[in-house]
Amino acid sequence: IPVEPFDFIIFGATGDLAERKLLPALFQRQVAGQFLDPSRIIGSSRTKMSDEEYRDYAKKALQEHVSAEELSDEALDTFLKRLSYVAADATTGEGFDALKTSIGEDDVIRVFYLAVAPSLFGLLAKQIAEHGLVNDKARIVVEKPIGRDLASAKQLNDTIGSVFKERQIFRIDHYLGKETVQNLMALRFANALFEPLWNNAHIDHVQITVAEQVGLEGRAGYYDKAGALRDMVQNHMLQLLCLVAMEAPPTMDADGVRDEKLKVLRSLQRINGQTAGKLTVRGQYRAGASAGGPVKGYLEELEGGESNTETFVAIKAEIANWRWAGVPFYLRTGKRLASRVSELVIEFKPIPYSIFGEHAGQVVANQLVIRLQPDEGVKLWLMIKDPGPGGMRLKHVPLDMSFAEAFNVRNPDAYERLIMDVVRGNQTLFMRRDEVEAAWNWIDPILESWADNNQDVQGYTSGTWGPSSAIALIERDGRTWHEST
Ligand code: BG6
Repeated sequence: IPVEPFDFIIFGATGDLAERKLLPALFQRQVAGQFLDPSRIIGSSRTKMSDEEYRDYAKKALQEHVSAEELSDEALDTFLKRLSYVAADATTGEGFDALKTSIGEDDVIRVFYLAVAPSLFGLLAKQIAEHGLVNDKARIVVEKPIGRDLASAKQLNDTIGSVFKERQIFRIDHYLGKETVQNLMALRFANALFEPLWNNAHIDHVQITVAEQVGLEGRAGYYDKAGALRDMVQNHMLQLLCLVAMEAPPTMDADGVRDEKLKVLRSLQRINGQTAGKLTVRGQYRAGASAGGPVKGYLEELEGGESNTETFVAIKAEIANWRWAGVPFYLRTGKRLASRVSELVIEFKPIPYSIFGEHAGQVVANQLVIRLQPDEGVKLWLMIKDPGPGGMRLKHVPLDMSFAEAFNVRNPDAYERLIMDVVRGNQTLFMRRDEVEAAWNWIDPILESWADNNQDVQGYTSGTWGPSSAIALIERDGRTWHEST
């Protein structure tokens, strides 16, 4: 469905995010017919550049990040005509008058996308306000990290909040834009089958894995100050946990969904100095092999120096409420792991008693495995009779739905969905201020405990599943990490 015309202003227009994600996503949405004329894209950054030069830059970005079949000359031409560029400096305010002239007075939707370092968020918000660029249809988009702890997140939220109203602020967590993440809500709330079982009477535990094969990818400056807990757990992993654990919202509107997620965040059992050693594991990759080739260790990638930054975290989390008390949520995420796979595993309780006897083989508990990426799909693991005349032997097999096989459609990038939600003003898939702060409120004591207890990182070989203590974390409880197949 086309949306009303809009101006999309990208700060950080020549940065990595604009090149890899924003320009390709905007292009795809135009191809899908969602742009009404005269929608425009205005790039801005400190670099001086003409409109023509920015169009060349964008063309190269699209050639690299959009497949050749999708990039017809005609569509590319229409897209590039929408682009213009204004150099502006958030620290001095230079260029903002020119930006104002370029935006003009028309009362159309204005999206200000801050694809810049978080240290510039506050400055940019102020320049935007001081130069009178905020109209009633303005929205601002900020990327994570929103702060590095609760105090700094509050400060940042205050600064942005002094210029924009909460309904105009879109805090992106791109995991919420992933197809399969949204599917989790469809699965839970559009089927009657799961809800009666979705609680501590029937679920033994939940596993959330977000495993990556990549290393630092040239982001050492940011990553070494952040680490995996801030980079992945505070946002993506906790959002996934919320979607698994929340109650059915009254409607799919923004506050309905976000109120429910907030309750989950508030119910997370605090991890403190006494429990952190037992409930959390920090790891850091060493040299090894990943994706078929040798790779350097984290410290070598950093090029010298020491670092106690974690590139892997495993946590046993608990949600203290009626639905989930006693059901552990095991979270793990890391870089340079054995494969790239993100999935949620809901493991149900075992049957109370097997009538089949030992010769039938082991009765394995049912599992619902939701695969977020790659090979998106859902598998429901069940016990069946092993086919054939050999008597009653049992077998653990998946009811398997691969989205690629079931639907012959392109899997859109998360940013495509999210960008158009911003234009439409739909905040359902964006984080509200209190959610971000509640997440930090749970993360802060873990960070403090690590610092107070000197909980060091444990080395793990690149290409493995992390430090052995992460395996011990779950095996101690008589459970195992699900093996992705
Ligand atoms: C980002 C993190 O938010 O998510 C990165 O900063 C991480 O460190 C990335 O690599 C993972 O996203 P995806 O979509 O590739 O799973």
